[in-house]
Amino acid sequence: MIEKNTITCGDTFELLDSVEDASVDLVVCDGPYGVTQNEWDRIDSIQEFNLELISRFSHKLKEGGALYLFGKPDCIDFVDYRPYLNLRAKIVWYQPSRLAQGRLNYTNNYDIICYFIKGKRPASYNLDDIRVAQLVELEHRLRCENVPSVRTGPFGKTKFNEKGKNPGDVWGDIKQLTYKSKELVCREALNTIQKPERLIERLILGSSNVGDLVLDPFAGVGTCPVVCRKYEREFIAFEINPEYVKHGIERLDAESTKMGLLNFNHGS
Ligand SMILES: C[S@@+](CC[C@H](N)C(=O)[O-])C[C@H]1O[C@@H](n2cnc3c(N)ncnc32)[C@H](O)[C@@H]1O
Repeated sequence: MIEKNTITCGDTFELLDSVEDASVDLVVCDGPYGVTQNEWDRIDSIQEFNLELISRFSHKLKEGGALYLFGKPDCIDFVDYRPYLNLRAKIVWYQPSRLAQGRLNYTNNYDIICYFIKGKRPASYNLDDIRVAQLVELEHRLRCENVPSVRTGPFGKTKFNEKGKNPGDVWGDIKQLTYKSKELVCREALNTIQKPERLIERLILGSSNVGDLVLDPFAGVGTCPVVCRKYEREFIAFEINPEYVKHGIERLDAESTKMGLLNFNHGS
């Protein structure tokens, strides 16, 4: 049996068999993109590779469970994932600060995060936990609510919500880490490895609840496990590089210490 709430060092394709079928509430899959020269990222067809992952995750997910699959804009093009999972959204993670070096084409300024669910209805979609600030001024927004197409449109009445709005499917408010970011664990993890905690938080908070089981098949330096610990989700995490596993475990220990201190402070 795979140990929960730690990072297991090994190959996901072998370890996945030991995850019980229909036991997982959420998969956060930030694996190979097939675009760098890293040994683990050299993939002949990223679409076929992702299709195999989607098929295998579909057995592990509970009904209504969610999968977030990271990649480049073409990462699921021309493969038929529909027998396995339903694609609900392709979220654009927009990074305007990426160096615009293209000479013969438009520079790619975003990653996509494909949001799938098993079955027809998501088991959780906790909108109130992931709302973002309204960008338009309140007065203008209130005026919009009285426009007939908004009052009688297909989504019914939309109301200004003081807690913020739905984050939508273009996320430009979360920046990729830089070498100055406090949370960066090592220089090597910059760009191709480590994701910002805020990005993973949105996925975990939106699509799981306290006590749910999250699977992170490509854990890197442990961002998703750390977020799971912070928000009291159970997790199973795999990572093939022992150095990254070490960083991840250190981060998990640091998070536990922080939480222990917080609990102690709250209790006193
Ligand atoms: C994009 S990184 C994930 C980064 C992670 N989200 C984080 O924030 O640290 C992908 C990771 O997958 C790992 N990896 C690649 N192939 C693997 C495999 N077959 N089994 C387990 N891990 C693998 C790589 O070593 C790399 O650390």
